[in-house]
Amino acid sequence: MNKTTKIAVLVSGGGTNLQALIDAEKRGELGAGKIGLVLASKPGVYALERAAQNGIDSIVLPRKEYADIAAYSKALADTLTAAGADLVVLAGFMTIFDEQVYEAFPNKILNVHPALIPSFCGKGFYGLHVHEAALEKGVKVSGATVHIVIPECDAGPIVLQRAVEVKQDDTPETLQRRIMEEAEWKILPEAVRLFCDGKIEVEGNKVYIK
Ligand code: GAR
Repeated sequence: MNKTTKIAVLVSGGGTNLQALIDAEKRGELGAGKIGLVLASKPGVYALERAAQNGIDSIVLPRKEYADIAAYSKALADTLTAAGADLVVLAGFMTIFDEQVYEAFPNKILNVHPALIPSFCGKGFYGLHVHEAALEKGVKVSGATVHIVIPECDAGPIVLQRAVEVKQDDTPETLQRRIMEEAEWKILPEAVRLFCDGKIEVEGNKVYIK
């Protein structure tokens, strides 16, 4: 029998992707995965409420209580290690951390990004800014990507992507919502299930699904 994979979900906001993971787990769609911890980078975010409503342990690690990225990263790595996390999922986590976390969880951190990487990604591309940039460029298709996190921002091996149509009258908000509904909330739980079932193989910059 498969050992349970303990998942830590890192959040900074509303937590709709966390909710998609919670719902998938309830439907039995996370394979051996079980969400064991929600970690927020600031207090009061709605994602923490979602954790409480679903009986999931949560912890707040506020970035501003740490002097610099190195101190924050050490605290983050120590917290996730002490919690016994097997997989770390960045679900709208907007706080930068350094190699201490990657080294503690090599190829074990997944991130969902609201665009088709390598478009509209990297420094400054987060949340609504991503969709503003896509609309400004006039792309006809955008989407979402789940990738393995490496020290270079948004550059790690791609696990899953899904394309979503951009409409002529889209605003950043309507595009964000469509990408969440049609792509993020589907491919994030799917990628987590693949990881938990041991189906993800990383070779260089490529992911092979077994
Ligand atoms: C999501 O669209 C996620 O892809 C994005 O932030 C939103 C969080 O929403 N993440 C990034 O932009 C990371 N670069 P949520 O809190 O409702 O899941």
